[in-house]
Amino acid sequence: MLKKLSSKLITYFICLISLLVIVIFLTVQNLVKTRHINLMLNEMVRYSDIINLSISEVFLKNKNKEVAILINDFAKAANVRITLINMDGTVTFDSDVSDVSSLENHYYRQEVYQAIHNGSGNSIRYSSTVKTDMLYYAKLYDKYVLRLAIPLYTLNESLSELRMLIIKIAAGVFFIAVIIVVVVILKITGPFKETLSFAENFSKGDYKKRILNYTDDEIGSLQRALNKMADTIVETIEAHIFEKKKLETTLESISDGIALIDASKKILIWNKTFTFYIGIESDPKDRPFFEVIRNRLLNSKLEKALVSGESDAFEIELLNEKVFDVIINPIKEDNHLLKGVLLVLHDISEKKKIEKIKSDLVTNVSHELKTPIAIVKGYLETIKENPDNKSMLNDFIDRALENVDRQNALIQDIIKLSMIESSKEFEKEEVNIRRIILNCLDILTPKISKKGIALHTDFPEINYYTVANDFLAEEIFFNIIDNAINYNNPGGTIKVSARLNNNRLSVSISDSGIGIPQEYIDRIFERFYRVDKSRSRTTGGTGLGLSIVKHAAMVLGWNISVDSDKKGTTFTILI
Ligand SMILES: Nc1ncnc2c1ncn2[C@@H]1O[C@H](COP(=O)(O)OP(=O)(O)O)[C@@H](O)[C@H]1O
Ligand SMILES: [Mg+2]
Repeated sequence: MLKKLSSKLITYFICLISLLVIVIFLTVQNLVKTRHINLMLNEMVRYSDIINLSISEVFLKNKNKEVAILINDFAKAANVRITLINMDGTVTFDSDVSDVSSLENHYYRQEVYQAIHNGSGNSIRYSSTVKTDMLYYAKLYDKYVLRLAIPLYTLNESLSELRMLIIKIAAGVFFIAVIIVVVVILKITGPFKETLSFAENFSKGDYKKRILNYTDDEIGSLQRALNKMADTIVETIEAHIFEKKKLETTLESISDGIALIDASKKILIWNKTFTFYIGIESDPKDRPFFEVIRNRLLNSKLEKALVSGESDAFEIELLNEKVFDVIINPIKEDNHLLKGVLLVLHDISEKKKIEKIKSDLVTNVSHELKTPIAIVKGYLETIKENPDNKSMLNDFIDRALENVDRQNALIQDIIKLSMIESSKEFEKEEVNIRRIILNCLDILTPKISKKGIALHTDFPEINYYTVANDFLAEEIFFNIIDNAINYNNPGGTIKVSARLNNNRLSVSISDSGIGIPQEYIDRIFERFYRVDKSRSRTTGGTGLGLSIVKHAAMVLGWNISVDSDKKGTTFTILI
């Protein structure tokens, strides 16, 4: 664009200079020509008067021959053509033509006509006799008109010389003028160019560049103003970026899913939690919410809020069976014009899960307690009705006691579990894992022997000390070894071994028992879950052992994995 401006200016100036040169050239040429002709005319006036003086007397005496001689002499001497013309236009003498009768009437020759009517006249005409322009001058005397003619060779020659000179000077002036004009224009357009390139770069996002070296004129002031404007814009942009960052950080640090939807239903602002909750990976920016959110109820509620401008709150189940508290709040301007709505998704899945676990627990506990109480009640009633049947009496009292024991064990386990679960601060102390395992095995030895189980231990000489809690660690090992006995076959084996890997102690307890079908492995840690209810009952299990193990391990930060097939089960505890 600037190239155009400078070349335009240069073209205009060159045209102007050319015009000026042509005008000066023509004016000078004309001036010279007119001055020259005027000088010649003055000369011719004098000549004509002198000629008249010398011939008038002879002429009056009708001495034609003498007149002719005089005229011819004068013509030769002055190098002019002299013609003597009567008042009616007939030519009497001509210095160039001896036979004047051959000449046509001169009455209407311009200079002659003027002389007859005004006293004198002149004209310039091309003469085909001499083949050049001639200057004619005619003057009226008493009896005749005297006409002088001078060829304009000399004038034309000097004019062409002058023309050459002027052309040379004009070319020089033109050349210098063009150079000056180009330099000046480039100098003027230079700052424009710099300003333009600054503006272009700025518009393309290069906010750092500024115009340096101002000129001290209006362009300089413009450049200074532009620099200032750029500074202000950059400051504003930075402030906006900071505001945006603040908003983004705030949004991202909120654990709820948040989205702002404008009145035209487009999603303007959102956080990552929002996209995670509604299960999209693409950028939802400026997309209509109903394209992004794939839930009919939520979409219809949003639609409603965008029409009514009223807030709404409800519960909804989204992807992966997650449950959310949804809040929709309208955003209004001061004049109550609805600008959009704010959608908040608060994940309450965990809360719901805990609520369900709690209610399940109540159901399970009451069920588990009700059964042995009913059995004990049954035995006691039978005993009361048959107080004399001694053999039955002992048996029934034993069975009632057995159920009371089971009930007691159950209550103990429930208390333990709730204690561990309520996450009371368990004191962390240095614990010797080897001692705890041996202690559990000691307590369980009678049970192992009774079932004819062979126990193998494999404890290499390694460090068994760790920071943990005695009670929790004992609960973990006791319950797992107890299960290895309970769900073992008579005469089976149990192997307890320990290994140190990457500074982590791993203890495995393997049995040659009945195993756990693959599909139940995930469930055995649930409260009251048993693969085989009747078998668990005969072993005196409460169904809470592995739940206690799971929660204790969680408190200690231990990891427990289960591997099982039909030949037996291995529990591995990574400490
Ligand atoms: N070593 C094992 N071998 C086979 N099944 C097991 C073993 N350990 C646990 N189970 C299964 O996991 C269930 C839950 O175990 P647990 O919570 O200790 O309750 P329980 O009181 O029934 O022993 C048991 O009922 C049993 O079905
Ligand atoms: Mg058990």
